Amino acid sequence: MNAAVNLTNDELYSQVKQGPLPGHVAIIMDGNGRWAEKLGLPRIKGHHAGMESVREVVTLCADLKLQALTLYAFSAENWRRPGPEVSALMTLLQTYLKKEVDTMMDNDIRFRTIGRLDELPAAARKWVQKTVDTTAGNRGMILNLALSYGGRVELTDAVKKIAESVRDGRLDVEEINEELISNTLDTAGLPDPDLMIRTSGEHRISNFLLWQLAYSELYFTNVLWPDFRRRDMLLAIRDYQKRERRFGRITQQLATTVSSVGGGER
Ligand code: IPE
Ligand code: IPE
Ligand code: MG
Repeated sequence: MNAAVNLTNDELYSQVKQGPLPGHVAIIMDGNGRWAEKLGLPRIKGHHAGMESVREVVTLCADLKLQALTLYAFSAENWRRPGPEVSALMTLLQTYLKKEVDTMMDNDIRFRTIGRLDELPAAARKWVQKTVDTTAGNRGMILNLALSYGGRVELTDAVKKIAESVRDGRLDVEEINEELISNTLDTAGLPDPDLMIRTSGEHRISNFLLWQLAYSELYFTNVLWPDFRRRDMLLAIRDYQKRERRFGRITQQLATTVSSVGGGER
């Protein structure tokens, strides 16, 4: 069991602060519907309650000075949900952006997105763009929202782009490498996630960041997203801090070299 569960919030926070901190954390925020159903409420109430968790987790991560936080807000597959739930989620997205832009400004957060934005309703798209523009000058944590995002679609689009460059003579096949692929994905410019969290007890990736999660530490918790608050996030990071990331090497080699997957250092 994670010994950190016995710590007070202050103790836990100060341990987490001592590091090593993840640079990029990605979260599959799952369990909103079940949270609401357990209380006999409509599913959308769970999505509303989940916004409070988003605020707590975002402010904590900004305070810890993480480089980036990616939140899976709406998947390419979520369009298959009943129409009223999809509409309610799109409205909620706008509400969130209108309400939280002040939190972003107060915390020096830069907002960006991944996914097929053009599939969102115009009003939601407008608020996304407004938030990107308003926060563009901030230099703290990047808050990256995955909207109508699917890992396979993202990879397919990247393959198409690269193929077009080769076809048009702008790129040589020999120049295709991992770095180029990373830079062609929606997440271009972001480091790969060090830690991926999924709430609600589901143990799957659900088409999230398929390329980028290659060497991420995975953390699964049964806590439903609306119940996942600051303390739960601190526990997840504390758990991450206890892991040994070997990237293919053996323990004895780690004291001298720190390197991640890919790159030139092998
Ligand atoms: C996650 O919660 C939020 C979105 C996918 C938008 P769910 O809505 O998937 O909640 P459950 O899994 O049905 O409990
Ligand atoms: C994944 O959650 C997408 C988001 C959290 C936005 P789902 O609840 O939609 O995932 P599956 O379909 O059950 O795997
Ligand atoms: Mg779900």
